[in-house]
Parts: sequence; C-alpha cells; structure tokens
Amino acid sequence: MYRIVSAQFLAENIKKIEIEAPRIAKKRNAGQFVMIRVDESGERVPLTIADSNPEKGTITIIVQGMGKTTRELNSKNTGDTITDVVGPLGAPSHIEKFGTVVSIGGGVGTAIAYPTAVALKKAGNYVITINGARSKDLVILEKEMTTVSDEAYITTDDGSYGFHGFVTQKLQELIDSGRTIDYVLAIGPIPMMKAIAEVTRPYHIKTVVSLNPIMVDGTGMCGGCRVTVDKQIKFACVDGPEFDAHLVDFKNLSDRNKIYLPEEKQSAEAYVHRCNLIKSV
Ligand code: NAD
Ligand code: FES
Repeated sequence: MYRIVSAQFLAENIKKIEIEAPRIAKKRNAGQFVMIRVDESGERVPLTIADSNPEKGTITIIVQGMGKTTRELNSKNTGDTITDVVGPLGAPSHIEKFGTVVSIGGGVGTAIAYPTAVALKKAGNYVITINGARSKDLVILEKEMTTVSDEAYITTDDGSYGFHGFVTQKLQELIDSGRTIDYVLAIGPIPMMKAIAEVTRPYHIKTVVSLNPIMVDGTGMCGGCRVTVDKQIKFACVDGPEFDAHLVDFKNLSDRNKIYLPEEKQSAEAYVHRCNLIKSV
C-alpha cells in the first residue's frame, strides 16, 4: 500500500497527488513514469512522475480525471492509500546541452513537460516554455514553469489569459522572429504534438514528443503500447515514451488509442452513476 501524503486540485478535474514511494523517488529520472493500480480490482494506468523528493521519499503525479480509473484516483485524499505503484518505468528523457530549447506543454501535458524542462535547465540550456490551455482556469504549474524558464509564455485558446491562440502559433511566432531554436520538446494531446512536428519540420529543428498509447504491463511484454516510429514498431513503455516527432506515425497512435473508447466511456459513465447514487443515500 502506498500512502498519499497530499492531494489537491490544481484546476477543474486536474489533481496533484504526492505519494510515499521512497525507492521510486530515489531512482527516478525526468521523463519516467509509474504504473498505478488504485485497488485490487482496478486496471493499471501509466502516469508520468511530475516531480520527486528523495529526502522525503515521495513522488508527485498530476492526474486529469478522464476515465473511471483517473476519476477514482482523483477522488483520493491526503491519508488515503493506493494499492500498487510500480516504477520508475520507461527510458529517461535525453538530456544534454542543446543550446536554446523550447519546452511545450499542452493542457495536462504541462505536468509531463515540467520535469524535463527542469533537467534541461540544469544541463545549461536556455529554456523557453510555452504552456497552452483552453482557458485561464485550466492553466497549471504556471509558477513552477516560470521559475525554471529563461522565458515563459502562457497561451489560451479563448484568449482569457496570455497569448490568444494555440501553442503552435506562439512557437511559429518565435521562429519567425529569427530566434535560433536548437531543440523542441512537446507534450500534450496528439493533435497538438502532430501540429508541433509540422511547425518545426521545415526548419529541421530536432523535436521530441512523449507518447501516451494504451499501456497494460508497462514493461515491454504485452505489446499494448505499440507505436510506429520511422516505419518500425516500438514499445512506448520501454523504447520511449519520448520519440523523434518527425518520425512518429500519429495517425496510427490516434487510431489505436480509440480502440477501447466505447468500453472506456461505458465504464466512466457507470462510475459516475455509482458515485451519484452513493451521494444521494
Ligand atoms: P487540450 O485539448 O486542452 O489542449 C491543450 C493545448 O494544446 C491547447 O490549449 C492548444 O494550445 C494545444 N492544442 C490542442 N489541439 C491542438 C491542435 N490541433 N493544434 C495545435 N495545438 C493544439 O488538452 P487537455 O484536455 O489538457 O489534454 C487532454 C489530452 O492530452 C488527452 O487526450 C490526454 O490523453 C492527452 N495527454 C497526453 C499526454 C502525453 O504524454 N502526450 C499526457 C497527458 C495527457
Ligand atoms: Fe505492454 Fe508496453 S505496456 S508492452
């Protein structure tokens, strides 16, 4: 059992959860994830480690309540426990001194971009961050991102805060201003990562994305997280989750992620229905 040391919502439906997991906290590197099983009967879900504190023996995850399991996780509070936390899994982010790097987080993807931005800064890079959200109330980790950045930009789709537009537009603006950009890291929804890849492709800017396929075991055995990169089959849980954005087959990823949508929807609806019943008695 893994104890939750603290839990608080950062935005509607997005919760920051700090979990006691000393061995994982000691070993983890930026870009790695854990597989979590909320209780004995639960499914396993992969969640990137947003932060860790080896002295305190804790790791932090940031969870968007979308399906049944992530909603269950987000219903947990300080002092509650989680049955299984396995990790750290996946290959760490590739960190070196590239020069000027742009770290882009779309929505909850910002939580995954954050630890890598920290590592890129520590490696001596000039770090520009762009964090996009649909609206002001969905912006997360603004303070943390600003602290780690040499330049930080917020974008909102509706213009309620920061730059009015998509993260891609802000990146294009930076490129058009004549800035030298040596490396781009982009993490967020699939259409965003695909669009970023198309922005940087003509300029041959090295661009890396973190993929979020369906995962089951997280250790390279089930094949669930199969992705196509440079026309080759890769397993995101062991070969990734980070890959060269210009070589990823995003359509294949998007199609595979939709396979269980009807079941996921049904399970999430049943969970919400059960919660409403419990609340009403
Ligand atoms: P969202 O839909 O609110 O988008 C966040 C930002 O991404 C937008 O503000 C915009 O700037 C940009 N964006 C979105 N679509 C774009 C497009 N077509 N072109 C250019 N820019 C675009 O994001 P959300 O609701 O927080 O994200 C949810 C999705 O992100 C889920 O599908 C989830 O599975 C995925 N996700 C991916 C990862 C990962 O590792 N890649 C991690 C967490 C979540
Ligand atoms: Fe099973 Fe990657 S999750 S092979």
